[in-house]
Amino acid sequence: MSVHKEAKRITTQVLHEMKENGERIAMLTAYDFSMTRLVDQAGIDIILVGDSASNVMAGHETTLPITLDQMIYHASSVVRAAKRALVVVDLPFGTYQGNSKEALNSSIRIMKESGAHAVKLEGGREVRESIERILSAGIPVMGHLGLTPQSIYKFGTYTVRAKQEEEARLLKEDAQMLNDIGCFAMVFEKIPASLAGEITAAVDCPTIGIGAGADCDGQVLVLHDMLGITQDFSPRFLRRYSDIGDQMLGAIQNYVSDVRSRDFPSKDEQY
Ligand code: KIV
Repeated sequence: MSVHKEAKRITTQVLHEMKENGERIAMLTAYDFSMTRLVDQAGIDIILVGDSASNVMAGHETTLPITLDQMIYHASSVVRAAKRALVVVDLPFGTYQGNSKEALNSSIRIMKESGAHAVKLEGGREVRESIERILSAGIPVMGHLGLTPQSIYKFGTYTVRAKQEEEARLLKEDAQMLNDIGCFAMVFEKIPASLAGEITAAVDCPTIGIGAGADCDGQVLVLHDMLGITQDFSPRFLRRYSDIGDQMLGAIQNYVSDVRSRDFPSKDEQY
């Protein structure tokens, strides 16, 4: 019997069992109540309230501007709709780096004020102290290695990370460290599939890939990208499962046209 079908609520323990059982983990982002209801009903295992909300919800160019209060607002809406999935919330830029006490306080605010189940943060050895302090309060932490969008101004580009031997070696060390100190899972973003596969085989905790190949224990995509709502973003790793953006545009154009031509509302649509 599959582990995830038995589970009424996905927990970090269920995810570990899924890895042991060889069951793939499906994760998507969500940021609001209505979309989360659909995502949860569809049987997703993990919902990430990603700081990609900064891009897809607020229209910023990067993930850097979103605030802790804004993340908590999105996370609260998601938690109200998610009946089965584990809800993980990104710690936004500037709320955990370089100050482990602040990292703990930010995580506690997320857990208390939104009701989410875990936090995610970007980075390896440089944020180890912050991760350990959050974990010591009993808050589950998901790591995030490879392309870490909060460091975009350090990298300068969104290209694939860890293609060179030295960067791959450091990433492997960081992944092992995240595993050993107790992260319940980790995201690999845009790294070579062979590297992601090698680490996945070496660590106990589930790995979730985005542009990291088929050998990760699970996959994650940004909801608005895979549904075709964002239309100006098409990296190689993105599979579009819908063209709902075009459908929405068509529906709204029809509405505008019906209002202008006085076709809407009809006699049956008024009191
Ligand atoms: O913020 C986000 O959506 C993410 C995913 C891309 C993993 O971190």
